[in-house]
Amino acid sequence: MKKKYFIGILVIAALFMASFANTVNAQKSNDDPIKILKSKKCTSCHSVKILKVKRKNKKSKAPDLSNVGAEHEPSFFVNWLLKKSKMNGKRHPIKFNGTEDEFASLLGLLMTLRETKEE
Ligand code: HEC
Repeated sequence: MKKKYFIGILVIAALFMASFANTVNAQKSNDDPIKILKSKKCTSCHSVKILKVKRKNKKSKAPDLSNVGAEHEPSFFVNWLLKKSKMNGKRHPIKFNGTEDEFASLLGLLMTLRETKEE
């Protein structure tokens, strides 16, 4: 009887720690979409001048993302980044790989990128 009780506590403690670890991870990746942009390697090909973000691969011909929010509908980003749609007959070279929260955060940033501020 006592042993069962002890195992029960261990299980609860393990569950608690697991959920705690998840929240910490989620917070780390969710807090800053610019970090997601970097950690998902977007910035190896793309620069974002208005955010002072430079691309790592100098030879990349990928466009700067500074004005994409003005150029595209929000739904474009979803389909484009999941390689479901084409632009100029081509699909995006990579498919977004990450959690839904990270994707939402990234999309939120892309939609707002505009080079000229509208007053
Ligand atoms: C391997 C290089 C590479 C990586 C990594 C990459 N892209 Fe791209 N991306 C491109 C290229 C090349 C184009 C232009 C495609 C075309 O015009 O046909 C493009 C186009 C885009 C566009 C449309 C730009 C416009 O002006 O219409 C967006 C938005 C975009 N990428 C976002 C992202 C995001 C977000 C990530 C990270 C999840 C990412 N890209 C990662 C190469 C890359």
